[in-house]
Amino acid sequence: MLVNDSFIKRVENYENTAEHNEKLHAEFEQLVQTIPFLAQHRKYVETHKLGFGDTAFHYMWYLIIQHLAEQSSNLKFVEIGVFKGQVISLWALIAAKLNLQLSLTGISPLKGNSLPPSKWVKIWKTLTDPKFRQELKSGNFYPEEDYRAIIAGLFETFHLPFSEIRLIEGYSNDVNVLETVKNEKFSLIYIDGDHTFEGATEDIKNYCPLIEENGFLVMDDASFYLPGTSFWKGHESVSRACEIIPSFGFTNILNVGHNRVYQKVNGSS
Ligand SMILES: C[S@@+](CC[C@H](N)C(=O)[O-])C[C@H]1O[C@@H](n2cnc3c(N)ncnc32)[C@H](O)[C@@H]1O
Repeated sequence: MLVNDSFIKRVENYENTAEHNEKLHAEFEQLVQTIPFLAQHRKYVETHKLGFGDTAFHYMWYLIIQHLAEQSSNLKFVEIGVFKGQVISLWALIAAKLNLQLSLTGISPLKGNSLPPSKWVKIWKTLTDPKFRQELKSGNFYPEEDYRAIIAGLFETFHLPFSEIRLIEGYSNDVNVLETVKNEKFSLIYIDGDHTFEGATEDIKNYCPLIEENGFLVMDDASFYLPGTSFWKGHESVSRACEIIPSFGFTNILNVGHNRVYQKVNGSS
């Protein structure tokens, strides 16, 4: 980490310009290599194909967790869309290395959503089924695998306590999932589940009210309309869905590649 670097400094100096967005993304990518445990975790994830996203995000999470830990000792994080556990294990790893307590929840189906194996069925569905077309465009298909075992294996590799993670099995908009979390408040919610416009919009509407005052919402795949070209900017559908976030009392305080960080402003609903 750079001497004297902090999340607050990054927010204070942030400019939503092509030049700044590109420089920040490249700098965060390099800074990951200066913190061996971040670099090792990301290398392992890439080598074993255990997640998506950019290397730069590892440094973003490092700064965010340190910042929130300075504000509160009772931090509760949620990831919507866990896949093979990259982000939730990274949060646990950062907490372990910095000697912090984080209470972590993942909401994910823990099963695949496979594409039809037949090329002809795929073509037919693309032509006739608008929902299928949207899911295809927004990359909503995942192979059938034992996701719980893969996530547990990743935790084991980094000597992290998987038994302390609350994994809620299901889709974020399932009635029973919403029922489970509806009376809770969280310090940070990271949305990276359904990438269709409808799915991302529903997540924003359902989960923004669960974030505590001054807490964070981080949206993945959300920078399609931001300036900058040197990084992948995410999905148009998710980025468009983000337009309603300010109406829930959130301010966009930082963007790192296709991850957008919003903070719930004091006194808002
Ligand atoms: C892009 S992957 C997530 C990647 C992961 N966050 C990472 O950084 O490695 C999307 C995940 O969301 C899951 N998913 C899709 N729709 C969802 C929903 N409505 N609620 C929760 N998870 C969802 C998929 O099964 C998949 O595991």
